[in-house]
Amino acid sequence: MTNKLTWYGHATLGLETGGYKILIDPYFTGNPAATASADKMKPDFILVTHGHGDHIGDTVAIARRSGATVISNAEISGWLGKQGLKTHAQHLGGGYKHLFGYLKLTLALHGSGLPDGSYGGNPAGFLLTTNDGKKIYLAGDTGLFGDMKLIGEEGLDLAVIPIGDNYTMGPDDALRAVKLLTPRHIIPIHFGTWGLIAQDPNAWASRVQKETSAQVHVLKPGDSFEL
Ligand code: NI
Ligand code: MN
Repeated sequence: MTNKLTWYGHATLGLETGGYKILIDPYFTGNPAATASADKMKPDFILVTHGHGDHIGDTVAIARRSGATVISNAEISGWLGKQGLKTHAQHLGGGYKHLFGYLKLTLALHGSGLPDGSYGGNPAGFLLTTNDGKKIYLAGDTGLFGDMKLIGEEGLDLAVIPIGDNYTMGPDDALRAVKLLTPRHIIPIHFGTWGLIAQDPNAWASRVQKETSAQVHVLKPGDSFEL
């Protein structure tokens, strides 16, 4: 079984695992880095880390058309449920065995206000154990926090973390995050979308390669990585 992760630009990811299609933070419309459009997406599930517009993005339109179940925290799930979407609410620290694997919500240091000003609960990351036993950590938007060490103790095959700075960890803290998470593979995201979060991912990658044993994969929007 292969697990294929595609970066569509910014924090928008597609994951194909065991025949299931999952979209994470599907922000296509208005995303200057997007390499695909929302109307081409036919996911079975959509995962939303937090309520900000650059993460909830096209969730409503895509889920309505595809019938995808949206998984998020209880507050965001409630807000989406009122709009007629199929949802599954979880919360920080809680895991559930979905068809595509065991998904746990993890801590993230950030905000989560929804586009209309509604309360979006706490922001989250996701720790997925696929049906073939791979551990994939999607940090979401977050600053550095020491409990990344606890997440790393689970034995991560892949971690996807922000490096853009300004709204999330920048390159220095993201390097420290890699040291706490100790993943086999690491992919940087949430940079380059706008000038405010411009970074040199290759310079960051060489620092990570020098100081840790993680393998860095610098993707271009539209690129995929297979695990
Ligand atoms: Ni955000
Ligand atoms: Mn963001």
